[in-house]
Amino acid sequence: MGKDNLVSGMRSTGKLHLGHYMGVLTNWVKLQEEYNCFYFVADWHALTTKYDSTENLKQDKLDVVIDWLACGINPDKSTVYYQSNVLQIAELHVLLSMITPNNWVERDPTLKDMVKIIKNKDGDKSENVPQLNYGLLGYPILMSADIMAMNGAVVPVGVDQLAHLEITRDIARRFNNIYKTELFNEPAPKLTQIPLLMGVDGQKMGKSFHNDIKISDDEETTSKKIMQCITDRSRARKDDPGHPDKCEVAYKYYEIFSDSETLNQVNCECKAGQRGCADCKRQLGKIINDKFAPIREKRKDYEKDLDRVYDIIREGNKKASIEAEKTLKKVRDAVNI
Ligand code: TRP
Ligand code: SF4
Repeated sequence: MGKDNLVSGMRSTGKLHLGHYMGVLTNWVKLQEEYNCFYFVADWHALTTKYDSTENLKQDKLDVVIDWLACGINPDKSTVYYQSNVLQIAELHVLLSMITPNNWVERDPTLKDMVKIIKNKDGDKSENVPQLNYGLLGYPILMSADIMAMNGAVVPVGVDQLAHLEITRDIARRFNNIYKTELFNEPAPKLTQIPLLMGVDGQKMGKSFHNDIKISDDEETTSKKIMQCITDRSRARKDDPGHPDKCEVAYKYYEIFSDSETLNQVNCECKAGQRGCADCKRQLGKIINDKFAPIREKRKDYEKDLDRVYDIIREGNKKASIEAEKTLKKVRDAVNI
């Protein structure tokens, strides 16, 4: 029996950070062994909120793919492509939009948050219901088309995307009912287990919060950012006993990035007041830099050889289009159009 198809995408936000790496990419890399993976840059989805600031879109898309490749997404195993290069996804989106009741998409709990992003961008602080573009309202339908076009059985996502996947399952079922077919399966979410990495300030790590460390940051930048990490706030001097459990960011990073022996040593020395926070963070910076050194090397190689990256994307676009065309042939038949 062949491997199941797995589909997942990321919006084209530009260079990725360590939260993407720990939360998503390490997972994606592993899943390549078990599934036939389709990984794509959701550039149409990016337009649902950033339709009026597309200056960097092309570069952002490219940067996402380069980060993926550097982190171990292997184009010989997985199909890597741009959503907007697979026109069958748009066709399926139109057809699915014909059968999706308005209230299914209006109920989407993430819609309010996404609308807020747009409002903030416009500087609108009022409580008025802001303008809601048709494309943003259709976000879950487009996402369904992404998955269903590739005949996706499994979709690795974070909890924030579960509601969207629920709509996908509803749409798949409804399509089958209306057109009396068994064409679509109901894709199953695969929840990402790894906890989200916080930013150096202790808030959620994100580009827009200016608290992130990029996969592509150089050593000096990384070390500087690590020095900003919040530690045990109750600690005044370096020989005060510290509390690793209250060390808000630095110790959490140790837990994620260092081996158990180092972690144990940090824990003991901190509690005993034998470890200053500045030194502790210098060591942490080195650990993180060592861990990402090979990835950054690989990233630089790809940056020097962009033709290779474009080839990979072109090849992926082609493979994804072939897969989607197989589905769309059946869809057109089922709809009888
Ligand atoms: N909405 C997802 C996110 O913001 C990105 C995405 C678009 C996606 N289409 C998808 C994820 C299809 C999985 C499957 O993270
Ligand atoms: Fe955190 Fe290290 Fe300072 Fe302890 S010594 S509080 S673990 S930064």
